[in-house]
Amino acid sequence: MAPTYPDWTRRHKICDVPPYVTDSDCRPIYKGETPRKFEFPTGLPMRTRVAAHKASDFYVGKYVQAVELMKKLPDEDPRNFTEQAKIHAAYCHSAYYMGKTDKAFKVHGGWFFLPWHRWYLYFYERILAKLLGDDTFALPFWNWDFEGGMTIPLMYMDHSFKNDISPLYDENRNPEHANAFVDLGYGKIKKPISSLSRENLIWKNYMIMFMQVVVLGASTRTFHGEKITETSSKCTCGAGTLEYMPHNTVHNWTGTVPTGKKDCDCPSKTCYGEDMGIFYSAARDPIFFAHHANVDRVWTLWKTQLDGKDYDDPDLLDTKFYFYDENAKFVEVRAGDAFDPEKLRYKYEDSPSPWLIRPIPWLMKPIAAAAIERAAQCTLPTLDLQTNPTFSGPVKLTVPRDPPSSTIKELLVIEGIRAQRNIAVKFDVFVQLDDCLAATPYVDTMPPEYAGTFVELPRGDNIDDPECGCGQSSVHTVISEVLGNLGVGQEEESIKCLCVFRSNNL
Ligand code: C2O
Repeated sequence: MAPTYPDWTRRHKICDVPPYVTDSDCRPIYKGETPRKFEFPTGLPMRTRVAAHKASDFYVGKYVQAVELMKKLPDEDPRNFTEQAKIHAAYCHSAYYMGKTDKAFKVHGGWFFLPWHRWYLYFYERILAKLLGDDTFALPFWNWDFEGGMTIPLMYMDHSFKNDISPLYDENRNPEHANAFVDLGYGKIKKPISSLSRENLIWKNYMIMFMQVVVLGASTRTFHGEKITETSSKCTCGAGTLEYMPHNTVHNWTGTVPTGKKDCDCPSKTCYGEDMGIFYSAARDPIFFAHHANVDRVWTLWKTQLDGKDYDDPDLLDTKFYFYDENAKFVEVRAGDAFDPEKLRYKYEDSPSPWLIRPIPWLMKPIAAAAIERAAQCTLPTLDLQTNPTFSGPVKLTVPRDPPSSTIKELLVIEGIRAQRNIAVKFDVFVQLDDCLAATPYVDTMPPEYAGTFVELPRGDNIDDPECGCGQSSVHTVISEVLGNLGVGQEEESIKCLCVFRSNNL
């Protein structure tokens, strides 16, 4: 295996977009330069990213001004707002080949996710700072993991900034969520989540954070997602626990409700969840950058508070990405150089993280960390929504275990999922449950059997195009603690799994 890079000199076909999206929507400017190697900034002051809900008027004024300036840059400037959004579209929708192979390079659904987005935000932030002539400028973060930050931050909702529409506002959002509390476990479900009291929703969000980041994400592989290399199969990928939820769920929650209609007649072309709810348009909504700043912040918490270990595989560390920097110079960065925010000269304002301290009564006792990982693994031939788009589950599985022992961290691996669709798909995985009814309390709470989630944003319609890969995915979680708390003994030779769908029946 070898580290890889997006080959920006060749044009791969754009994949997974709605029929009304063109190649140029996903193809940022590239002027043919040879990249220079990125150098860590010297003399840049340490910058603090602030919690958006607590930002001062002075800060908001500056940020608004910066985004306005970015929107006013000439079309041919790679730093302009539209071009910046296209960078994200390109890296999500296969605009580049992966190295010299015939596969597409994509940054979601695996180990590129966290480092790539850190670099993307870094340059975006440096461009805004440059436009302001203020090296201390740093992005805000949408603090959705803390009670005070669980709504769309005011600065992104303001329609009347200086009697004008704020450049931070985006009209392509779900109007029902404008003043709502965010549901980090969002998925289309029969019982509307709004029926939860605010208090219960906050508690449920804390449980979700705790489960995804502390319990199920307690290993490099399950937190960061699957390895993707030039030699790995064209088919397989699998996001880490943070990427599926809350990252994907918050995208789906913020964007419009997808209808999956090909002949989209609405003038603003919002049939696939635009803007935040589908990748090609996600970064057109300025809230994208605050959302990702918080994803990035949770990564720093996983490392500093939970002792999480990043991949140390040179195949990832030496992977290259390319960006235009704040001076519109084309630069090459290493994925591995993103692992230390200090070197990029930014940090996060402190904000309480109540979810770090075990908000779930039945999980009061942490299971001692075990060094060796071993997987209970299964492949799911039945979870194929591409050939069977109306399938809604549930799916029952019996997953054989390797003989477990207390010194082994046990992973649940569900592979072979073909669930990419033109609407959002979400299902939750429970262990040792027989029927869905028992899993329904998850709408309100989170039963002890909860063991993972799969969430996809809507995709376009060329999913089965062989040039676009086979769109197969997987879920990986650490389940030692869940099994321990359910009293599942080491003599059990298999684990019962139940996958319950939340969102594919629109
Ligand atoms: Cu590249 Cu939140 O997505």
